[in-house]
Amino acid sequence: MLLDNSSDIVTTRARLTKVNEPTDDEFRLFRDLVLKDLGMEWGDDKKYLLYARVQRILQAHQLETFQSYYDYIESTNNRNERQLLYNAVTTTKSGFYREKQHFKFLRENVFPEMKNHNSKRYSKLRFWSAGCSSGEETYTLAMEAHDFFGTALISNGGLRILGSDVNTGVLESAIRGGYTEEQISTIPVSFQKRFLLPTAVGKNVFQRKVIDDIQNLIQFRQFNLMDNVYPIATKFQLIFCRNLLYYLHPDKREYLLQKLVDHLDEGGWLVLGITETGYKLDGMKKLAFSIYQKN
Ligand SMILES: C[S@@+](CC[C@H](N)C(=O)[O-])C[C@H]1O[C@@H](n2cnc3c(N)ncnc32)[C@H](O)[C@@H]1O
Repeated sequence: MLLDNSSDIVTTRARLTKVNEPTDDEFRLFRDLVLKDLGMEWGDDKKYLLYARVQRILQAHQLETFQSYYDYIESTNNRNERQLLYNAVTTTKSGFYREKQHFKFLRENVFPEMKNHNSKRYSKLRFWSAGCSSGEETYTLAMEAHDFFGTALISNGGLRILGSDVNTGVLESAIRGGYTEEQISTIPVSFQKRFLLPTAVGKNVFQRKVIDDIQNLIQFRQFNLMDNVYPIATKFQLIFCRNLLYYLHPDKREYLLQKLVDHLDEGGWLVLGITETGYKLDGMKKLAFSIYQKN
């Protein structure tokens, strides 16, 4: 079962404790922790972010200082406790068809090449959305592939998509696959009708839920991209890793990019965020819009 950073434990217990803003020394402790654990780089301006996002956790534990919270998480081996911190400090903004040039490029260039390729390599399509947040990117990929390749090609394991993230709160939303009308408004209307069903989630409250045919193509998993070894046994023809590198220390970006390239099949495509430019990736050819292809 995944953890949720908005869990009742955090919200119900005392809003009474007054949490002190982190001192410079306390901030440095957490800056080093997020760098070591998550690869994130925090400039000094992120002190406010630490306070704004993490004070709720301190309140739940009735801790007044960031030093006492730091001592607490360092002294306990409780993984859940560290996970709550990860959930609080990661930035998870996402959206359906975000940076839609990428999906146009897939449809016009990448998918046709995959379809026309007769080799065994493309008989099983494997895609990965790394840093998938609440699932919008992963579902966009799945809807586009479903529409392009058709049921015959993608059923029975013809296409599988992995969505991974370190944040268990957003992954729970991704697994539920329910979104508000506003969230789905960037999806073409014909796809909204085909792939998202109105579903009651409370008295007179409706959400649009992704249909089973799409959900069945996807597996969501929690792991940290900073780990040495990922729990993945396959190579991918397509990897999306968008709007994540931005938050990382330059050395950690290089580390991650190399891991992603290693997990790509020969001829596979790597898609980074549109503004994530300027990387030189050995063995990769740059195409357009921060899209690379492995030689
Ligand atoms: C800004 S969101 C981007 C979501 C999506 N890719 C998009 O472009 O819309 C970045 C995601 O990366 C995840 N992330 C950050 N550091 C990570 C790490 N070390 N391992 C795995 N996921 C990480 C965050 O939890 C967050 O959900």
